[in-house]
Amino acid sequence: QFMNQLLGFKEDEKRLADKLGIDHCLIVNGDADQSSRVLDEMGKELNQTLQLVLPAGRLTVAVMGGTTMARVAQQMTYKLSAGRELTFVPARGGVGEAVAIQANSVAASMAEATDSKYRVLYIPENVSAETYQPLLKEPSVQEVLQLIDNAQVVIHSIGDALVMAKRRSMAPATIAKLVEKHAVSETFGTFFDEAGQVIYKIPRIGLQIPDLDHIPYVFAVAGGKSKAQAIAAYMKNAPSRTWLITDVGASNAILTGE
Ligand code: G3H
Repeated sequence: QFMNQLLGFKEDEKRLADKLGIDHCLIVNGDADQSSRVLDEMGKELNQTLQLVLPAGRLTVAVMGGTTMARVAQQMTYKLSAGRELTFVPARGGVGEAVAIQANSVAASMAEATDSKYRVLYIPENVSAETYQPLLKEPSVQEVLQLIDNAQVVIHSIGDALVMAKRRSMAPATIAKLVEKHAVSETFGTFFDEAGQVIYKIPRIGLQIPDLDHIPYVFAVAGGKSKAQAIAAYMKNAPSRTWLITDVGASNAILTGE
């Protein structure tokens, strides 16, 4: 029976990957909307997959922020750095999150958990372009931006567009524009409609969606039925080599089109 379950599970992973038009999906049991422990399972799955897939040697890993990323960071283990010299960097600065879930914090916790190095981007959240533009000339900021540009691995989550816009206290006029254009999905500070078309970008620094084309290893971690639409929309134009790590809650909703 266990084998059947296992095979059934694998079959769903294949069906989901086909439906989303990407190469690999991994589905853990449960629904992250019901229990945050499901995020721990997604974290373990991510850790194992990285161990299997990433090459040996020196690698820069760019990570995004969010509650999913902050939680999965706790499941990383030092085994990941066996034979690898990893440097974790934030993929983007300034999308307007609380400290604990900023990309900087995720990079630091992943580095601590894997006994690796990390660098942070000292660009304050929620400041105007006039304020942060001069900071980009600072050598310490330039150095980290270079590392981000040359990252071989990126790990990010995907969020529901309006949930993210509100959590990041975006301007009411911008939120109204997102509603008007039917935004359903957000990742990297970029908002997408149901067809996966970009409808708005938070004008900040770091990795942009087109940069993903140059990054060989891309991992997206997002679960919960409430994120099904956001995941499906983003995947319409995501790089097909993206590994999606999700849960049964999101996967079933995507597969049944609920
Ligand atoms: O870009 C996506 C968001 O960072 C996802 O945030 O993990 O807190 O839902 P979350």
